[in-house]
Formats: sequence, structure tokens, C-alpha cells
Amino acid sequence: MKKRKIKFAVVGCGSIGKRHIAVLDAEPEAEIVAICDLDEKKCLEQSQLYQNIPYYTSYEKMIEQIKADVISVVTPHFLHADMAIKALNKKFNVLVEKPMALSVKDCQAMNQAAVENQMKLWVVKQNRHNVPIKLAKDAIDKGMLGKIFMVKCDILWNRYQGYYDESPWRGKKKEEGGALYTQASHFIDLLVWWCGDVQDVKTFMETQNHNIQTEDSGSAILKFTSGAMGSLNWTTCVYNKNYEGSITIVGEYGTIKIGGQYLNKIEFWDVLGYPLQEGIEFTDKPNAYGKYQGTSSNHDKVIKTIIETMRNNEVSVEAVEGLEGMRCVDAIERIYKASN
Ligand SMILES: NC(=O)c1ccc[n+]([C@@H]2O[C@H](COP(=O)([O-])OP(=O)(O)OC[C@H]3O[C@@H](n4cnc5c(N)ncnc54)[C@H](O)[C@@H]3O)[C@@H](O)[C@H]2O)c1
Repeated sequence: MKKRKIKFAVVGCGSIGKRHIAVLDAEPEAEIVAICDLDEKKCLEQSQLYQNIPYYTSYEKMIEQIKADVISVVTPHFLHADMAIKALNKKFNVLVEKPMALSVKDCQAMNQAAVENQMKLWVVKQNRHNVPIKLAKDAIDKGMLGKIFMVKCDILWNRYQGYYDESPWRGKKKEEGGALYTQASHFIDLLVWWCGDVQDVKTFMETQNHNIQTEDSGSAILKFTSGAMGSLNWTTCVYNKNYEGSITIVGEYGTIKIGGQYLNKIEFWDVLGYPLQEGIEFTDKPNAYGKYQGTSSNHDKVIKTIIETMRNNEVSVEAVEGLEGMRCVDAIERIYKASN
């Protein structure tokens, strides 16, 4: 029997909203029923690209009028909680872009709305699908690394001033939150996934080379609930282009460095009795936005996992639910609170 397509609506047709729409359009088991953006020009452009999808410039009107299974919230950070809760209260499932929200309090309210309405709430964490991340996770889960002693995470990226100037919310404390919420949250999600929640932290951060309210650089020393310790260096001040996005895991029986510019390569693998297989294809591509690059473009895998999860009514670690998504926000809050 032919399966019914899962109906999605997308709010936010900006840099990554366009990727959500393209991915949904290419997914045979998905159907886009509506898109929404305050900016009608963006709506029109996307609508015309994809068979005149109905569009709205009011989110409230869209969720009042449409029939959909999932609302994808792809708007600035400060809107995530309110938009997700409104959709959950109208009995839609919600997929929200990272970071889930700008506070643990907001994440809790979102999770509560999901439970009360018996709807699903997922957070985009597409880097969990990267080939090197899956290989490392597998080694950790099989106990091949033994106890994790230390993790070292470096996000040494470039964002030019125009990146902040082009979107009115970027670089603003109340609207964006800072580089930990935007660039580093991809990496912090993986650290807490592998090492447990952040228990203790010391942070130093500054705005070094941009005209913005938030920090553009920082260093934190971390202690995780698993006992692992760690360090995190993040900056958007690297000259000209992204240099590195990496995580090194130092375990009792092995060391793994996942690197490249966006966690797309295995740079070092030395694990007792568990060598890296030969012939692995490292296929992850970056999200490219013209003048700058983000992390991996595995949004297609996020959408596929959600569709499978909905069809089979199952829980998947790759379809990250609200409770799991909140752990990253908790870590970020703690890192900011510990700053100078
Ligand atoms: N997973 C990833 O790799 C990835 C990459 C980039 C961005 N993101 C996340 O996606 C979200 C959006 O980021 P972006 O870079 O696309 O931002 P953007 O500024 O390019 O786009 C945001 C869009 O939201 C629209 N918008 C703002 N308020 C609205 C409202 N009330 N109703 C409807 N539309 C509204 C804006 O007009 C804009 O078009 C953020 O959470 C960001 O962190 C994730």
C-alpha cells in the first residue's frame, strides 16, 4: 500500500530555512504544505522555486489555517520557544533548529507543552549523522575507548562582520545569545552526549574582532558528570575562512581526533584492538552560504530519521528529542554563567 506523505510546514525562509525547504522537496516521503516568513520577498522566492507552495507572512495565521504533521521552526533563537509551544498547543509535532532555546527554563516549557499535548518535539542535531561522529560514537558505546579521561574541542572559524550585519538578530545578546548558542552548540551537543552533563566549568571570553554585543571568542575548562575533563576553544575571528572544527577524545584504551573544518574527517585513530576500517567514505558536505561555511549539511538525514520515527512510532538517538536537546542548552548556560 502506498504510504501517506508526512506533511511539513516551515517557518523561517532564511539561510538554513532554504535548505530545510530544499531537503523536504527532495524527500519522496515528505510534502511541504506551507512556508512562512515575515519577509514576503523570501516567501515568494521559495514558493516560486517549489511549485507555488502556499505561503504566509504571519506564523499565527499559518498554524491556525493549515493541516500538517510537523512544523519546522527555523527562525532566530529567541523565537524558538514561543513558536514551538504555539505549534504544540495546536497539536502539531515540532522540529526546531538548534539551539533548542535560549534558556533551560524555556526548554522545560517546550518539553512540558509536548507532553501535555502528546506531540513530539525534536531538535536539529545533524552532526550526529556525520560519518566520523557515528564511528566515534560506536567505539564509545562498545566500550572500546574505556574510560574517557579528556576531550578537547576547537571551533576555530571565520564569520565576517557582514554575517552579523545581514540578519538583525545575530550578535545580539537577547536574540542570538552568542557564539556558544550558534556555532559551538553543534559541538557541545556531542560533548555532553559522550561525556555527560557539565558539572563544573571555568570560562574566559571576549569580543575581539567584531562589532557585536556577544562574545566572538572564548575558552572554557570543563568537568563532566562522567568524570571526564575537557577544554573548549571557540572563535569566529579566524582570518579569511574556517580553519578547524574538531574534537579529540582521550580514552583509557584509545585516542580519536575528529577534525576537518566541520567534524568531517578522522584525523587520528588509535584504539586498542579496534582499528579504523579501511575504505570508509567520508561523504559529509558542509552547509555553504556563499561567503561562509557552517557544519555538515546532513539535514536530509534528520528529516529521514524523523519520518521513520513517526512511521514506526519509535525512539531514535539520532532523532533528538526535547529532553536530550535541553542538555546542550544547560551546558551553554553553565559555560556563560562561569565567564569572567
Ligand atoms: N543546523 C545548522 O547547521 C544551522 C545552520 C544555520 C542556522 N541554523 C539555525 O537556524 C535558525 C535560523 O538561522 P538562519 O541562519 O537561517 O537565520 P536567518 O536570519 O538567515 O533567517 C531567519 C529567518 O526567519 C525569519 N523570521 C524572523 N522572525 C520571524 C517571524 N516572527 N515569523 C516568521 N519568520 C520570521 C526572518 O525573516 C529570516 O528570513 C537559527 O536557530 C540558527 O541557529 C542551523
